[in-house]
Amino acid sequence: MAIFLTGATGYIGAHVAANLLENYKDSLNVLVRAADPHEAEVRLWRALQLHLDFPRFHNHLNTRIHIFRGDLTGAQFGLGDDEYGRLVETTDSVIHCAASLNRKSEKSCLNVNLRGTLEVVRLAMHARDHHGLRRFSHVSTVAVAGKRSNEVVSEDAAIDWERSDYDPYARTKKFCEHMIRQLLPDTPKTMFRPSIVLGDSRHAETTQFDMVKAFVFLAGLPVLPFRPEDKLDIVNVDFVADAIATLHQKERPAFDTYHLSSGRESQSFRELTDALAAARGKRRPVFVPGLARPFSWLVNTLSNRRGAVGYETSLMKVFLPYLLWNTVFDNTRVTTELGRKPVPFSQYSYPLLEFSRENQFSYKYQDWPTASVGGSAA
Ligand SMILES: NC(=O)c1ccc[n+]([C@@H]2O[C@H](COP(=O)([O-])OP(=O)(O)OC[C@H]3O[C@@H](n4cnc5c(N)ncnc54)[C@H](OP(=O)(O)O)[C@@H]3O)[C@@H](O)[C@H]2O)c1
Repeated sequence: MAIFLTGATGYIGAHVAANLLENYKDSLNVLVRAADPHEAEVRLWRALQLHLDFPRFHNHLNTRIHIFRGDLTGAQFGLGDDEYGRLVETTDSVIHCAASLNRKSEKSCLNVNLRGTLEVVRLAMHARDHHGLRRFSHVSTVAVAGKRSNEVVSEDAAIDWERSDYDPYARTKKFCEHMIRQLLPDTPKTMFRPSIVLGDSRHAETTQFDMVKAFVFLAGLPVLPFRPEDKLDIVNVDFVADAIATLHQKERPAFDTYHLSSGRESQSFRELTDALAAARGKRRPVFVPGLARPFSWLVNTLSNRRGAVGYETSLMKVFLPYLLWNTVFDNTRVTTELGRKPVPFSQYSYPLLEFSRENQFSYKYQDWPTASVGGSAA
């Protein structure tokens, strides 16, 4: 029997996969998009090489990882009947981590997040009816809380159907939670809602640069258009992955929904920029909150442009609500149950920013070693 994990080639999903492979004995059924079996293996290796060396990865691949080459948006993930049957028969729990984070595309969020999650729920139902399903874990987001301002949001107060959402991503993720609760009423479920997941507290290396780019840009500005005491709820990916793996594997987690966030201990802009300025031996920036409106206007305008400027500012546009809403997500449930807390961003932000800048915001992936080509993919 195996855990069916979606999104293993993504940033958080790879951390979850590595955590499960290193700390537990379960097999993993992973859904990977690829044109052929070897491409699927190579894509998984790219995602996992931040965590495992090749011999270790290859050993897991041969013994505990079963790759199902498919797409969330296809019926039965695009798998043939035999393969889909094998997936149903060997899956005894689900961690659904894949999603479209393309906040600008309603179509992509609709297809991947809504149709895709429905397809994962259907798989869960088949497994439940065939031999029982131990747990369905869904990686959601704090963005399901919709438009907020100056709040500490608890898990139970987050979903409010009368409230507007920031974008199609938040709206579709909100409905995913609802759909799973409605369609799997008697299956043990866990909803995980990470806040801004940025960097690994254990090392500077990362494969995810979109939000780091926004940070590096802001960190370089002498004047910041924010209120210095506003808080930013940033959480380290190793905490998020550890919480997902631990609570998914636990027989009876205390709650069905967890904010994976820094909560009330989130740091303010002032704390973050002071720490960075000290680490870089530079002057702290000046805060001019009155510039927030013109800054937002500029970001909105430039983000519609083509080319590099348009792309970079569209990343900032995605990030902007999180910078301006001064809202944090209570994490008492997860910190109490795990007995540990996220690492404050100021403690690991400098190495992360330096690594990203020195490597021009790209990760130097290792190729698949030629001598080992030919592993098998189910
Ligand atoms: N990153 C954050 O700050 C953050 C914060 C809160 C919540 N979350 C949630 O965390 C989860 C993971 O996010 P992430 O940052 O790790 O995103 P990511 O790096 O973009 O990974 C997304 C994953 O979903 C897979 N995927 C997308 N469309 C698919 C499809 N049609 N069929 C099969 N797989 C598909 C991707 O596969 P490919 O490799 O083939 O593209 C990839 O493995 C998401 O549910 C997201 O909502 C993230």
